[in-house]
Amino acid sequence: MKITKVAVIGAGLMGHGIAQVSAQVAGYEVYLKDIKQEFLDKGMGRIKWSLGKLVEKEKISQGDADTVLSRIHPTLDMKEAVGEADLVVEAAPEKLQLKKTLFEAFDEFTPYHAILASNTSSISITEIAKATKRPDKVVGMHFFNPVQIMKLVEIVKGEKTSDETVEVITKVSQQMRKETVLCKRDRPGFIVNRILVPALLDAIRLVEEDVASIEDIDKAIRLGLNWPMGPITLADYVGLDTALNITRVFQEGLDKHRYDPPALLEKMVKEGKLGRKTKQGFLDWSR
Ligand code: CAA
Ligand code: NAD
Repeated sequence: MKITKVAVIGAGLMGHGIAQVSAQVAGYEVYLKDIKQEFLDKGMGRIKWSLGKLVEKEKISQGDADTVLSRIHPTLDMKEAVGEADLVVEAAPEKLQLKKTLFEAFDEFTPYHAILASNTSSISITEIAKATKRPDKVVGMHFFNPVQIMKLVEIVKGEKTSDETVEVITKVSQQMRKETVLCKRDRPGFIVNRILVPALLDAIRLVEEDVASIEDIDKAIRLGLNWPMGPITLADYVGLDTALNITRVFQEGLDKHRYDPPALLEKMVKEGKLGRKTKQGFLDWSR
């Protein structure tokens, strides 16, 4: 199956990066959809910043950057976004009901051959697929933040995802110059987040219990485990709302008590301190 047109739904932290890599590395025509013009503008602004960095470092030319931008079409209209898509990659917030509503719309508006992928961090692909009449073509395509830099895509097979769909997504990921791993079973958090998120929650508990300063918790893990970022910085980088939503999925699908979120995380999200994307989280990102 030949992929030429890709729709990316959600122009946030992940969606803008997925749109950029789809247009820049894979050479696809990309439709980028969000719910408000200001979110589309912010996403396109991030893409321009990233392309600017690559031009500055002479990894691509200004002409290449212009070509990439001309391949990305921001839109608020669902039909325009997905109407001719061969592949949809959904990168809207981590809420099952929202994703189901979106997949219902994709099923209605995309050509029948189109593959419907979700960038979900933790939600069951099998559940999302139930919102469509083509569960064989619904798959997890889990990128990592920042998409432009991180090399991995986790491919997640739902109960009814066909081998052919997995094969196409593997090829698309290769076209984007990503490495892939396959989650054969659709379990909450797949591989990476099943391991990462409990570590982030425990790092927040260390802050809560005042065991060490945020600086020292991060330093300990950077120097003691060679992580590029400490876990508190990484939680801010991922988005505290996303981290909390993933935790809720773990509570429902794995163990209610083991994944009980730290009260401090709930408090920060309630206060709208979501990390880097709101410029304030555990750290101050305003500079
Ligand atoms: N586009 C283009 N260039 C970018 C970029 C982007 N989006 N983001 C960073 N860069 C560039 C920087 O500008 C920088 O360029 P210069 O050297 O010219 O300044 C270069 O990449 C390196 O970045 P930094 O200097 O900021 O620092 P770094 O070496 O620490 O790299 C990082 C940054 C790649 C983000 C690194 O800190 C890192 O790997 N952090 C951990 C990221 C991680 O764990 N991601 C996974 C999160 S979990 C997830 O995604 C799954 C989920 O479902 C929640
Ligand atoms: P984000 O909050 O940065 O972006 C979400 C975007 O979706 C926003 O721009 C929002 O306006 C838009 N949106 C909301 N409702 C929408 C709708 N009905 N239709 C279209 N767009 C809509 O979130 P994010 O970090 O980009 O996360 C998106 C998805 O990617 C989530 O499922 C998340 O779990 C997953 N993910 C996140 C990370 C990460 O590190 N943040 C990594 C991998 C996967």
